[in-house]
Amino acid sequence: MKQKPHGTKTGTKDFPVDCQMQDFTVSFDYPVYFSQDIFNPENDLLASVVDRRMEFRRHRAKVFIDSGIVEASKDFPQRVKAYMESRQDLLEMEGAVEIVPGGAKAKGDWDLVRHTMSSLAKSHLCRQSYVLAIGGGSVLDMVGLAASLVHRGVRLIRAPSTVLAQNDAGVGVKNGIDDHGMKNFAGTFSPPFAVLNDFLLLRTLPSKHWIGGIAEAFKVAIIKDPDFFDFLCQNAHNLAKRDETAIETIIKRCATLHLEHIRNSGDPFELGSARPLDFGHWCAHRLEVLSEYRMAHGQAVAMGVALDTCYARLMGMLTAQEQDAVIGALEKTGLPFWSDLLERKGKNGELEILKGLDDFQEHLGGSLNVTLPTAIGRKTEVHEMDKSVIIEAIAHLKNRAVPQRFQEGFLS
Ligand SMILES: NC(=O)c1ccc[n+]([C@@H]2O[C@H](COP(=O)([O-])OP(=O)(O)OC[C@H]3O[C@@H](n4cnc5c(N)ncnc54)[C@H](O)[C@@H]3O)[C@@H](O)[C@H]2O)c1
Ligand SMILES: [Zn+2]
Repeated sequence: MKQKPHGTKTGTKDFPVDCQMQDFTVSFDYPVYFSQDIFNPENDLLASVVDRRMEFRRHRAKVFIDSGIVEASKDFPQRVKAYMESRQDLLEMEGAVEIVPGGAKAKGDWDLVRHTMSSLAKSHLCRQSYVLAIGGGSVLDMVGLAASLVHRGVRLIRAPSTVLAQNDAGVGVKNGIDDHGMKNFAGTFSPPFAVLNDFLLLRTLPSKHWIGGIAEAFKVAIIKDPDFFDFLCQNAHNLAKRDETAIETIIKRCATLHLEHIRNSGDPFELGSARPLDFGHWCAHRLEVLSEYRMAHGQAVAMGVALDTCYARLMGMLTAQEQDAVIGALEKTGLPFWSDLLERKGKNGELEILKGLDDFQEHLGGSLNVTLPTAIGRKTEVHEMDKSVIIEAIAHLKNRAVPQRFQEGFLS
């Protein structure tokens, strides 16, 4: 038989040995809904979603809920249970609802992954059963990892409950936990069965996390969508004041841009090294690690975006006006652009934040690939960053910051 060359995105190679090239394509599809009050027994959405493949049978489901939601509304697990009971023709709830510790705790402990997997084992869920995960990005990432491992993948329905999870973390194809001093060190690519964004869930979200999620919208607007950036700037005050119409608009726009990127980039499982949606994230992930995960992802992203925007300006890629528009808009929204961790030095005298570049390169594989804006709505990839310019950018941000204002509030 004729040997096909071994093809990869980055090049091809002929094998001189007897080789059969395996080659197939798998297509994925999942709906992402934007809705309200999905656990109201009158609402058909969840029941119709579990039956979207028209299998016409009862579906077994195990429910996991973020502890933050339950602390804010004690009767929430009961409401979910009542919904499932009201739809017994299609849904069979396995065991009790499980409450998962919310926030960074969810992603910091393999025991929680094992515990979640044990719950699925005890419920004897099969691959065509459902895991329904209701929570912020952290809980969705941890439960999603467990669900992807059991039987090599149980169907996952996500009901994201934070701004960040609805506009970013909950709509994509990844999960994971933090380990070995790195964000998302362990995880899998595993598209969900469906995503149900329920805006009513956001009502109990603490303001820090409400505002934090807006950082991901800035991130994607700055590199992809100037009109969206203008909208964010014009609505910064309203967003900070928890205007529901404004937040729903930006969640939909941001989620749509993410979905379009995953669908059209040609690299949904990130086999190459370029990851434009991780603009600002080499710094953000390192800040989260340095803060021992006391800094929330959204606030860390805001600082990473500010730093890389300032770096791009110092490198002559952006004008001072564009840089000021970004930093001003972040500030108006209540997002931080400065933390003392940016200037913390390690034993070798080097800024600890700089290790974020090495971690980022290791996580993505291949050469370093950092996305930087070249105008509002346009981007480029760079393969090295000048550390002296990063240090200059940090000094610039420090000068702009009113220190008292940023010392408190975003570390909890
Ligand atoms: N998988 C991905 O593609 C992806 C993308 C972006 C971010 N992430 C990850 O998402 C995580 C951040 O997620 P997040 O910003 O959603 O925060 P989070 O999940 O850490 O939650 C923040 C806090 O809000 C609480 N909470 C959640 N929903 C609530 C509600 N409705 N009412 C009251 N309290 C509520 C949680 O208990 C927690 O205390 C990070 O670990 C980040 O790495 C993953
Ligand atoms: Zn992010």
